[in-house]
Amino acid sequence: MKIVLVGYMGSGKSSVGRSLAQRLGMDFLDLDTLIEQNENSTISEIFQAKREIRFRKLEHQLLQETLDQSQSFVLAVGGGTPVYYNNMENINANSYSIYLRMSPMQLCERLKQEKSSRPLIAHLSDEDLPEFIAKHLFERRNYYEMANFTLDVAQKSIEEISEEINLHLNDLQK
Ligand code: S3P
Repeated sequence: MKIVLVGYMGSGKSSVGRSLAQRLGMDFLDLDTLIEQNENSTISEIFQAKREIRFRKLEHQLLQETLDQSQSFVLAVGGGTPVYYNNMENINANSYSIYLRMSPMQLCERLKQEKSSRPLIAHLSDEDLPEFIAKHLFERRNYYEMANFTLDVAQKSIEEISEEINLHLNDLQK
């Protein structure tokens, strides 16, 4: 089984993915990490040196290669991955996709502390962040909502979220 976690930056895809993979005894993969390893640079460096357009191409190629693998895994993709090329269709054709949903306000509180490693928001002041996130999430929502399952994750611990997903996956198999 292949599981792909989608959602906006800061929604907890990587932490939940790691915990879920451990629970299910599956490998955990993180698309941003695969890109960084492939390019031997950080995401911020890739955005700076090669621009977003090149990053999106790399993201698309590595997503395709990962989904083509035959082994089971839990994969956390980047917040923008579902929005570019036919990535979301490809995710749904090859995996069970789960959208970790949070409101713009909740995301904003999280992202204030984690801006610097994220090139799309690193330059924004704390005052400009709420409006940016609200607009950006509005543009991306339709793609995230294409996921097979949506889970509201605000106010829940990583363990609670991965347990809820686990129970949902068990229900599906009944
Ligand atoms: C991005 C999200 C980031 C990373 C890149 C672009 C986006 O991943 O892929 O900075 O477009 O939302 P996270 O969602 O893991 O922060």
